[in-house]
Amino acid sequence: MSFPLERPRRLRRSDRLRSLVRETRVTPDRLIYPLFVVSGSGVKREIPSLSGCFQLSADEAAREARQVESLGVAGVILFGLPEGKDAAGSQGYADDGVVQQAIRAIRAECRDLLVVTDVCLCEYTSHGHCGVVDGDEVKNDATLPLLARMALSHAQAGAHVIAPSDMMDGRVGAIRQALDGGGYAETPILSYAAKYASAFYGPFREAADSAPQFGDRRGYQMDPANVREALREVRLDVEEGADMVMVKPALPYLDVIHAVREAVDRPVAAYNVSGEYAMVKAAAQRGWIDEKRIVLETLTSIGRAGADVILTYHAKDFARWVG
Ligand code: PBG
Repeated sequence: MSFPLERPRRLRRSDRLRSLVRETRVTPDRLIYPLFVVSGSGVKREIPSLSGCFQLSADEAAREARQVESLGVAGVILFGLPEGKDAAGSQGYADDGVVQQAIRAIRAECRDLLVVTDVCLCEYTSHGHCGVVDGDEVKNDATLPLLARMALSHAQAGAHVIAPSDMMDGRVGAIRQALDGGGYAETPILSYAAKYASAFYGPFREAADSAPQFGDRRGYQMDPANVREALREVRLDVEEGADMVMVKPALPYLDVIHAVREAVDRPVAAYNVSGEYAMVKAAAQRGWIDEKRIVLETLTSIGRAGADVILTYHAKDFARWVG
């Protein structure tokens, strides 16, 4: 036999062949698009560090959600910028809070778009931490009832999926109990199970006005160096009742996504976060990269690592490009 014995290039000779043997396909129906909601009406303010993304009042959020739905994107995840903040983040669980109003407005407009809500106190607390603060301590157990209350109020407003992102221990169990007790036993939980203390959240904190006023989040979010700990976090969340588990950020943590995929039989989500998006946008605006190809390659790699679901600010563009 002549050399070479194998010729992998045979299957790369045409678009047809390449498509036939493609191993990973990311489609818009696996994507979730983040929305930032504010009070008022007719408000649509572009977020400087997240070009193409806006702070939206409930009516504008509903309009945006309609467009997201028409592009075939699976759902939206809502983050709120409240009118006022206090130490207990009470606007986060107010019945007429910004997110609760946006949920109702979107549900009234959209037939089958999934409405996911982020459950965390940091956007609502005056100190900007994800839990109740005592001195310079973020108190774990005192935070749980507030998170449970927020989750229940989102479900009551019509949220399809509840996504806690605070990283307090035991919050999935507390939220599951509150949902079950409130008549929402059928509402699934997508837990931000392995959420790292990451510099990649920078633009989000500007978009959501949620930067901590003192210290940082390393006392509750995970150390970027750890992967075994991610598996423990995921296991605990599944035991407490998480229906889906998330790894966040995505691109710098593809190995974690892969390890989690291997370790659990639940759907795995990955959050392609604000800093990942902003870097692509900044380079694309300078003409240094081909944005479309970079985005397709990035989301494909996150899928190839093992994510079933991807939360991404690129969702609308991606859907337009592949649709
Ligand atoms: C709230 C929350 C954050 C993000 C999602 N939920 C910020 C943080 O933990 O500081 C980040 C999302 C992004 O960067 O796109 N806790």
